Amino acid sequence: MRQPLVIGNWKMNGSSESISALLSGVVAGLGESDGAKVAVCPSFVYIPSVIAQLQGEAIEVGAQNVAEQQSGAFTGEISVAMLKDIGCRYVIVGHSERRALFAESDVQVARKFIQVKDAGLLPVLCVGENLAERESGQALAVIEAQLQAVLTEAGAGCFESAVVAYEPIWAIGTGKTATPEQAQEVHKYVRDFIARESKSTADKLQILYGGSVKAANAAELFAQQDIDGALVGGAALSATEFVTICKATN
Ligand code: G3H
Repeated sequence: MRQPLVIGNWKMNGSSESISALLSGVVAGLGESDGAKVAVCPSFVYIPSVIAQLQGEAIEVGAQNVAEQQSGAFTGEISVAMLKDIGCRYVIVGHSERRALFAESDVQVARKFIQVKDAGLLPVLCVGENLAERESGQALAVIEAQLQAVLTEAGAGCFESAVVAYEPIWAIGTGKTATPEQAQEVHKYVRDFIARESKSTADKLQILYGGSVKAANAAELFAQQDIDGALVGGAALSATEFVTICKATN
């Protein structure tokens, strides 16, 4: 009942030339395949050209970040209204790289989530624990706190028309993937947390896994009951890898 969703997060990679070539490869590789909904998140500066290149294609486009403010004197920031204006559909909020490297707090993440929701776009809320937290048995508590922070700020019903991505920090870009069972345990926990408030929202919610997803491990992850797709980093920079991951949802 939940449509699989695979999102490529290109992070701070690419050039006009390489991105155009990557996108051509993805479009050609996906062909007419129906199954997963597919989206890509380029760096801000390439979003307009990616949208132009995807005219007439089913692939959607998202941003990797957004300002927590609406508009005004915030030099260097990009508002959700701007992202909507140019045709973005998704916005990643709370990626662990933003939380860790740019000190984004739970409250800032929640404010960004609210901006995206209010604009009618789909937030992709990233949650996940670091290695120390996993090894000390705190993973589920950390994830619950991250979800609760958004619920507290954004209010009841906030996970309707949203996407959650579980990304264990120790698995991002490291080549270490959570086992399907480890990932499933967290995904079910996320769904159960949201079901406490609304079972129908929880049943519809797409929960993506992220962290060293590649062609070779995608199918076994997607076979888990509560894994509805993936947020893919490194492997999304290869058209062949990314297309194989998208097709593994079938
Ligand atoms: O947003 C994507 C995640 O950070 C996963 O990155 O696939 O390179 O581990 P990765």
